Amino acid sequence: MNILFMGPPGAGKGTQAERIVNKYNLPHISTGDMFRAAIANQTELGMTAKKFMDEGHLVPDDVTIGIVRERLSEADCQHGFLLDGFPRTVEQAKALDEIMINLSKKIDYVINIEVDLSVLETRLTGRRICKTCGATYHVMFNPPEQADVCTKCQGELYQRKDDHAETVASRLAVYTNQTKPLLAYYEVTGNLVHINGLGEIDDVFAAIQKALGSNS
Ligand code: AP5
Ligand code: MG
Ligand code: ZN
Repeated sequence: MNILFMGPPGAGKGTQAERIVNKYNLPHISTGDMFRAAIANQTELGMTAKKFMDEGHLVPDDVTIGIVRERLSEADCQHGFLLDGFPRTVEQAKALDEIMINLSKKIDYVINIEVDLSVLETRLTGRRICKTCGATYHVMFNPPEQADVCTKCQGELYQRKDDHAETVASRLAVYTNQTKPLLAYYEVTGNLVHINGLGEIDDVFAAIQKALGSNS
């Protein structure tokens, strides 16, 4: 099963992806996570990406498409994958179509997690992430058992640099202008499913599982 997760920053893509990849045993391919790993490892890719991410802008298409193309051709993607946060531009969507043709694969589901833009700032500024295992928390909506400590692995929690209020506004504008128009692109392919992302995390998870079960 090859799945795309779409939705604005803070919609819950990463939160739901953690659960879906566990349940269906798929690799979780998040371009944002790949860029953050490259930044942590101080690679050339990381240095390029950091400039754009810190401003809340998109990393250029050629860079992003290149890393996804490489990642999707790896062995663990042969029996399915979940792409989170890619594509984000029409150019990236066209490139993905071409990558899929070359790999003789198709996208089975495009899951669009819908959340009113007004709740996203609270979700993003309250998010905390584990430095060790990457698990995502929220100070109010999904708090760890002990403040600033990961419940799963006892790792230290941190706040993403682009989750500060100044950068969040820019990310939301980028979503509206560059990524939202992609929904029309996928509307015609017939595999776009809209999921209400405003409920409890468990309820959103249940809705996504139902959507995935309905067409496989
Ligand atoms: P990326 O890492 O992809 O960030 P994003 O799209 O902005 O999305 P987020 O990770 O912020 O949100 P999410 O939907 O995963 O929400 P989450 O589950 O964590 O990209 C970062 C940057 O990298 C981009 O700005 C860009 O610069 C670059 N980049 C990445 N991909 C690129 C591409 N394809 N092209 C170019 N550049 C690219 O949830 C958010 C919070 O809400 C959490 O605290 C969570 O606990 C909480 N929450 C989740 N669900 C619920 C719920 N149902 N109720 C209450 N709270 C909830
Ligand atoms: Mg995410
Ligand atoms: Zn952890």
